[in-house]
Formats: sequence, structure tokens, C-alpha cells
Amino acid sequence: MKKQLLLTVSSNRVVAPGWHHMVLEGTDLPPVTPGQFVEVAAPHGATLLNRPISIFDATATTLELVIAPVGDGTKAICDAKVGDSLRVIMPLGKGFTTEFPVGSKVLLVGGGVGIAPLYMQLCTLIDAGVKAEVLFGLRSRPDAEFCKQYEALAPIHICTDDGSFGHHGLVTSHPAFGQHYDMIQMCGPKPMMRAVAASAAERGIPAEASLENMMACGLGACLCCVEPTEKGNLCVCKDGPVFNTSLLTW
Ligand SMILES: Cc1cc2nc3c(=O)[nH]c(=O)nc-3n(C[C@H](O)[C@H](O)[C@H](O)COP(=O)(O)OP(=O)(O)OC[C@H]3O[C@@H](n4cnc5c(N)ncnc54)[C@H](O)[C@@H]3O)c2cc1C
Ligand code: FES
Repeated sequence: MKKQLLLTVSSNRVVAPGWHHMVLEGTDLPPVTPGQFVEVAAPHGATLLNRPISIFDATATTLELVIAPVGDGTKAICDAKVGDSLRVIMPLGKGFTTEFPVGSKVLLVGGGVGIAPLYMQLCTLIDAGVKAEVLFGLRSRPDAEFCKQYEALAPIHICTDDGSFGHHGLVTSHPAFGQHYDMIQMCGPKPMMRAVAASAAERGIPAEASLENMMACGLGACLCCVEPTEKGNLCVCKDGPVFNTSLLTW
């Protein structure tokens, strides 16, 4: 059930160039599932509309986000100091599939800050006895430092654009990508997700993609986030953000 909450910033750290890891605290946060997102109101009316941000992790009293300050809204949110309050609507959207037969092999592919919604998914899959692996495409070594949290849970494969850490190149050129999986789940830039989906389809591997279309209401009312699909135009905020890639016409 969606709630509008006023949460207090208890931590806000720069964890890689241009990435803030923020912890917000409150009481009675509603339950969330991996891949869902929140709408955050930019402080001081910096933007009229809320900004959609994926849930990195959450409990009944904490919400963790990883935010790249790219424009007025995300910069104002990232400028929040410990003790400041942020208005948040949560949880929103439909997340990743989490139920698989025990022993299934699932690959989580993340690109850039798109790795954020995959942390909670990874924790959930590991708890359920799924053999999950992680494949991330990052800019360079400092981004990889933040990924230690994922490394503690599962095998992790990292590609960097500049070759400063791990495999030099795209996620689709990493040897781990060519192995067989029962499912690939991903979030990141659309070109990356399209390439991953095309390869998965060729190999008969089902895939899910979390889309990051521009949003206004975040609640299914304004239709500004629609994505053309095999079932017609669907709202990324309400019908997604996670879609089976067989539905997407990209
Ligand atoms: C479901 C969902 C989950 C998201 N999760 C995260 C997250 O966990 N962490 C995070 O940092 N960001 C996330 N985003 C992206 C984030 O919402 C946008 O970066 C933010 O809305 C930009 O607002 P702004 O006011 O800072 O920038 P604006 O001034 O609106 O835009 C700045 C620049 O970013 C581009 N931009 C804006 N929105 C998007 C978008 N949705 N996709 C691609 N480019 C965009 C603009 O074209 C412009 O170049 C998510 C988006 C969606 C839809
Ligand atoms: S953002 Fe308004 S319908 Fe999706």
C-alpha cells in the first residue's frame, strides 16, 4: 500500500564520483519488493515534480537510495544534509520476479547507477537459494569500490569503460555473459538493455528489464511515461518499471 512519508536523512555519502548513497529513516515504512521505486520531492521546491528513484534497500524504518545528481531535482535531493527531511511516496511500481525453483541460475546485469535496484534483488534471490551472479558495466575503478556490498553476497563480474578495473569493454563482451542462465534481470541504459535482451532472446533465456523513462506523476495518471509494448502503450510507473523483455518493442 502506497504511503506519503516525511523521512529524515540519517546519512548521505558520496560513494563514487557522482553517486550519493543516502539513508532515510522513519517509522512504519511500508513493505517493498525488489525493483520497486519511490518518488522523492526535491527540497525547497527545486523542481515542481517529484523524481523517481529505485529502492536500493529498505526495512520498516530505513530506506536506502543511490542517486546520481544529473539535474536540478537530483542535485537538490543529493544536497540534503543529515537531519533534513525529505517527502517520499512509496512503494511504487512492479518489481522483478523473485520466485524461482531452488538452484536456478539468474544473472543480474547493471549499467551505471542502474545497479541500484539490483542489490535488494540479489539479497532476495540469495535468501531463496537461487544461484545469482552479478555482471556490472561501470565507468571506472571508483564505481567498482561501491560494488563490494554485492561481492559479499555472490560472484561478481565487472566491466569498466576505461579498463581500470575488471574486463575492459561492454557487459555483452564479458565471458560470464555467454554462459547459460535461467533468467537475466537488468537495469541500466536502454542501449545496454536492448543488446542484452537481443542476445538473451537468441539464446532462449527469458529476461526482465527495469526501464527508467521520464516520469511526471509516477502514479499512472498522466501517461507521460508510456512505453510502446506488444500489449500497446503501458505506463512504466504503474505497469513497470520492470517488464519481461519479450513484451518490449524498444
Ligand atoms: C523507475 C526509475 C528509477 C530510477 N532510479 C534511479 C536511481 O536509483 N538513481 C538515480 O540516480 N536515478 C534514477 N532514475 C533516474 C532519475 O529519476 C532521473 O535522473 C531524474 O528524474 C532526473 O531529474 P533531474 O531533475 O535531476 O534532472 P533533469 O533536469 O530532469 O534532467 C537532467 C538530465 O537527465 C536526463 N534525464 C532525466 N530523467 C531521465 C531518465 N529518467 N532517464 C534518462 N535520462 C534522464 C535529462 O534528459 C537531462 O539530460 C530513475 C528513473 C526511473 C524512472
Ligand atoms: S508518470 Fe504519470 S502515468 Fe507514469
